[in-house]
Amino acid sequence: METVNATSVPPQTQWEQQLDALDPKTSPAARVGLQALKRSMTQLGKTLDVTRAATQNAFERSAKGQPLDLELLNQSVAQLQASLDQNSLALMTLTSLRLRDNVTYEHCCNSAAYLIAFAKTLGLPNQEIKAMGLAGLVHDLGKARIPTDILNKQGHLNDNDKRFIYMHVPLTLRLLKDISDTNQTVMQAVEQHHERLDGSGYPQGIKGGQIGRPGRMIAIVDSFEAATSKRPYRDANRGYAILQEMLADAGEKYDKTLFQAFVKLVGVYPSGSIVELKNGMIASVVQNSAEHLLHPLVIVFAQSSAHTVFSIQLVDLHEHAADPDYNIIKVRSDLAPPQNVLQLVGLNE
Ligand SMILES: [Fe+2]
Repeated sequence: METVNATSVPPQTQWEQQLDALDPKTSPAARVGLQALKRSMTQLGKTLDVTRAATQNAFERSAKGQPLDLELLNQSVAQLQASLDQNSLALMTLTSLRLRDNVTYEHCCNSAAYLIAFAKTLGLPNQEIKAMGLAGLVHDLGKARIPTDILNKQGHLNDNDKRFIYMHVPLTLRLLKDISDTNQTVMQAVEQHHERLDGSGYPQGIKGGQIGRPGRMIAIVDSFEAATSKRPYRDANRGYAILQEMLADAGEKYDKTLFQAFVKLVGVYPSGSIVELKNGMIASVVQNSAEHLLHPLVIVFAQSSAHTVFSIQLVDLHEHAADPDYNIIKVRSDLAPPQNVLQLVGLNE
């Protein structure tokens, strides 16, 4: 019979060793917070992988002109919603720092996750939450019918390129109309996801009250997600700049009240932002909470004066909320999250 040595300790994982290497000044609460975040990200990451497979299937069907498998997509939304109920705090960290290998599928899955979380924070009924999640998954499916050289074109787009790109909206709507029971919220969100309140959007250039709440919500999520996802994780430090750009347009292009609610979701300093504290420390934002928007959980990794890198330390800025030395004084857009920080949050193993 096999004997089990009761005193044997399982070997430490690489990540646990990294956690042990944290500066001893890291508080036990912050350590526990990081462990919980890591667990949540693993769970949610698995769900997003399954969602991505369903989205890929939908894109392939769209490319071939085949009808969508609505049941598969609805199942993915339900799974994503259930996983977010358990792991919502991990969403921003995971989506902003994760390495993306396919921008389009990843964009749709992330948009769906953001929209589910967004709809939930607005207190919308369950049916609406699900509809917004589905809209996130399907909103760009028509792109599968557009030549990739036009979709991926860098720099100036001529009128002909634009006409092609605008077509992804009616093409997606046509796919959805083939499914008899597609929800009106989903249709409206897809139809209006590129419309802007000032009439500067497309394909119809409608404005103001002509754009419903689903269209206003998806416009915010689609713009934010697309702007942060174009680049791999080494450039994850763009969320803050993008929010600032969108803030300038809030009220004009985006619904201001909804934008404010969205900022509560992603944080004033979105995950991945590199911030400088008043005491000269440089830190990477790991996790936000809606209650403490100005005091996220961060990993401190350098001293600003000489960019001295010292042992990395996890700091919950909320624990130091009364100490001005721990105030965030600026965002360092010139820096990227270092490898060891990404490893510590479990994104680069
Ligand atoms: Fe789109």
